[in-house]
Amino acid sequence: MHTERTTSKFGVIERYRDYLPVTESTPIVSLGEGTTPLVFCLQLSERVNRAVFVKNEGVNPTGSFKDRGMTVAVSKAIAHGAKALICASTGNTSASAAAYAARAGISCIVILPAGKIAMGKLLQAFAYGAKIVAIDGNFDDALRLVRELGQGGDFTIVNSINPDRIAGQKTAAFEIIDALGDAPDFHLLPVGNAGNIAACWAGYREYHARGKSTKLPVMLGFQAEGAAPIFYNRIVEKPETVASAIRIGNPASWKQARAAITESHGAIDIVSDKEILAAQTWLARHEGIFVEPASAASVAGLFKCCDSKQAAYSVQKIPEESRIVCTVTGHGLKDPDVVTAHMKELKSVPATVNAVRRAVGL
Ligand code: F0G
Repeated sequence: MHTERTTSKFGVIERYRDYLPVTESTPIVSLGEGTTPLVFCLQLSERVNRAVFVKNEGVNPTGSFKDRGMTVAVSKAIAHGAKALICASTGNTSASAAAYAARAGISCIVILPAGKIAMGKLLQAFAYGAKIVAIDGNFDDALRLVRELGQGGDFTIVNSINPDRIAGQKTAAFEIIDALGDAPDFHLLPVGNAGNIAACWAGYREYHARGKSTKLPVMLGFQAEGAAPIFYNRIVEKPETVASAIRIGNPASWKQARAAITESHGAIDIVSDKEILAAQTWLARHEGIFVEPASAASVAGLFKCCDSKQAAYSVQKIPEESRIVCTVTGHGLKDPDVVTAHMKELKSVPATVNAVRRAVGL
């Protein structure tokens, strides 16, 4: 029984063991993360006149890409005898850390900006049994506290400043290359604390170095207009955006994100809350993929590249035969409030065929 609990035959460590910092003796803590669908999106492709695929990370075990890194970080933490995890979060990291801690049988402390976490994510951390501390401050304050608390040695930090998180997250790039048979020409993704763009770029470089792909993609990162420190090249003291997952003013992997953009000849750009919400709705209604607002930043960014003269990277620079991948990072159900606010009140009708026909306008 005990070995069954700590050994799994699925998940990103089993799939990409040779590329990850684990050994035969590392006890694997997995929930079967990864192997997410790379969905060819016909309507999106027609809209931009290029082949577009969406890497849907919202279907990971806790509903976001964080699980890829968490399986590695928690497995390594257990190997080193950790008794407790700690993280700061805008919501998804805390949901993921709490789940993997539960799986490993250790405790998890999550430090969150009070009132700024989407309901679904808070609910997850609670359900998985994390100790939740809400602070009067933003994500950047929470991460500062976690760095200080982590120094004492009582907790293992599982934010993306933990290199094992980045190692796990690079497997998204491996999966994309494995699915397409080569790297895409362009990879667009939302940027918050900037770990994911750095991780994906590391994955592309590593697979390329091992001869698994013939080229490297151009990396295009998108921040929310009111939380865009990398774009503006200055710390944002009071970041604001409807995309709460990327409401971050001083990203931990700022330098690595810059490097990924420069080395790949890419760009960092901003999208407004309005553009983010429009892209969220568009993706749900045209492709059947429902994502949380932050996730829609990549698709909003693609639309901006096509439609706006202000775009940092114009679609004109994207040859028509290109293959484009947009990462969508988290599931739409995590943040119901954003959508609920736009829902009309549902009034009941009598339980008759005629009443139903009238209600749908027939
Ligand atoms: N999209 C979602 C849904 C996220 O939760 C995050 C980050 C990002 C994008 C940005 O990724 O930070 O690697 O640039 N969420 C972190 C958290 C900060 O605490 O859950 P990044």
